[in-house]
Amino acid sequence: MGWPVEHSLSPVLHGHWLARYGITGSYEAIPVTPDDLPVALAGLAEQGFLGVNLTVPHKEAAMALVDRVDEDAQRIGAINTIVVGDDGALSATNTDAYGLIENIRASAPDALVNRFGGRAAVILGAGGAARAAMVGLADAGVEEIRIVNRTLARAEALAALAGIAGLRVSAHAMNDGPAALAEAGIVINTTSLGMIGQPPLELDLAMLPAEAVVNDIVYAPLETGLLAAARARGNTVIDGLGMLLHQARAGFRAWFGVDAAVDEDLRGAVLAAHDNHARDVAAT
Ligand code: ATR
Repeated sequence: MGWPVEHSLSPVLHGHWLARYGITGSYEAIPVTPDDLPVALAGLAEQGFLGVNLTVPHKEAAMALVDRVDEDAQRIGAINTIVVGDDGALSATNTDAYGLIENIRASAPDALVNRFGGRAAVILGAGGAARAAMVGLADAGVEEIRIVNRTLARAEALAALAGIAGLRVSAHAMNDGPAALAEAGIVINTTSLGMIGQPPLELDLAMLPAEAVVNDIVYAPLETGLLAAARARGNTVIDGLGMLLHQARAGFRAWFGVDAAVDEDLRGAVLAAHDNHARDVAAT
């Protein structure tokens, strides 16, 4: 459920897994306005749904409309996955931090295990995606996080939310971004900069150690300007499509009891749907 939701790749993603694992069912994109969300959620059980994913603009408002919000979702301040219980009760979680970390684990397992060399993580952006990244990185054992954002006050507000023992979080304006990269072990872009149709992300990477991992959660284009620049100087780069695929595993497991695989087959199916959508947009 989202508003709008036509662009969502999740029906293709979950549809691919339903077919692969021989599960009879469907995953549908349902456009729901904010005003209609309470009724739409209340009707899930009666309509035979096992659960639902929520996307923009419902992730925060829906927290007040479900019966249970787990600890991950409370820390992230938003929900994106709901499971309908046998009794019709709605249990909600947020799979974004899990997806972010599992994507990093899949592409750079050693870096994750050694907690990025014990170095700081830099998060670009201070919105909902940045908050999920902060929670994921803290749980992965990162001890220092630098939040870099256009609006310094939002970075400060996010830093103040961290409240995790042993975690140091600092806030930096975008101008200080290049300096914040010094001695960093990982950089994650959570802003929309660099996405097709958005301004480019211009960040001088000169201070970033060569061993650092660079992850963009933007996946259109798959290789953003940030990732291209990082790759050119020898950093390990991780694209954003993997986060979408890995976060979906948690919902699929909760609904269908299957630990679904993220592999080239799935990436290919989702990328083909993505390209088709981009062509449709270009044609209109
Ligand atoms: P999400 O929940 O997806 O993270 P969001 O809460 O709207 O989305 O956050 C978007 C992030 O992208 C913010 O950090 C925003 O910076 P501000 O807090 O200064 O608004 C950042 N962002 C979006 N457009 C930007 C731009 N043109 N230049 C710099 N930062 C931008």
